[in-house]
Amino acid sequence: MKNSKIEVHTSGAALGAEVHNINLKDHLSDEAKETLRQALDDHEVIFFPDQNLDPNQQKEATRIFGPLLPSYTFFDHLDDDPEIELVINDKDKPPTGTARWHADLTWAKEPPGGTSLYARKLPGDGTGNTIWASMSAAYDALSDRMKSYLEGLEAVHSWDLLLDGRTKFLARSGEAFLNHKSKNPPIPQPVIRTHPRTGKKILNVNPTFTNHIVGLPRLESQGILEFLFCLPARPENQVRHKWHEGTLAVWDNTATQHTAVDDFYPQYRELTRVTFGGHGVPV
Ligand SMILES: [Fe+2]
Repeated sequence: MKNSKIEVHTSGAALGAEVHNINLKDHLSDEAKETLRQALDDHEVIFFPDQNLDPNQQKEATRIFGPLLPSYTFFDHLDDDPEIELVINDKDKPPTGTARWHADLTWAKEPPGGTSLYARKLPGDGTGNTIWASMSAAYDALSDRMKSYLEGLEAVHSWDLLLDGRTKFLARSGEAFLNHKSKNPPIPQPVIRTHPRTGKKILNVNPTFTNHIVGLPRLESQGILEFLFCLPARPENQVRHKWHEGTLAVWDNTATQHTAVDDFYPQYRELTRVTFGGHGVPV
């Protein structure tokens, strides 16, 4: 059995690690898969450089971390395969809506456990990075008074808070958007979540999808959220990843938030995205 000496190198103090001495196309032992799931639990986002994966191989690698989920977003699909989303930007398709701190699909009843993103074609100048932030580290740094204030509160999350910035995006998929909106009304989520695998407490509000805290006066809710929304932007909570073609990133969508860096327009960038649920429960 190959890949018995997987190496995990920490790349950020709060989160992030590179995984070496592994070829994701190899047949991996149960022990190797458990090592990878543990690495994701420990580091919240992990990077596999120098892989050479076709879309099906990306899906297979992603299944290590949980059962695949069909897409519920408006990214294009590969050959109508809803499990592979294409994230392609160029001069005609500027990046839209992802250059803002968020966890994916927190407006859904059951947001995904995580996501894999594979770099296929990149600008040649090192632009187009992605930044992740640890929301367990953000929680840990709160005062005990703030932790107890937030405990038990819920906040409403909604898909369409930022519609104004997505006009072009929605023009391409207006009908799908309306369908989607009717199936996904605003939903309350706990402000503090306990991670189902690690038991860590997680700050679970983000400036892209969180509208207000339930039961608080409007100004108080705005003030508290404004403070909490600043926390992923703190450098000590972050790891910034400069992509190389052939790198697969896998992140824990409960424990982290992320933002694209839209500095590569109008150059071409192509990534493929696969989403998984189950928080590490393999199919
Ligand atoms: Fe995202």
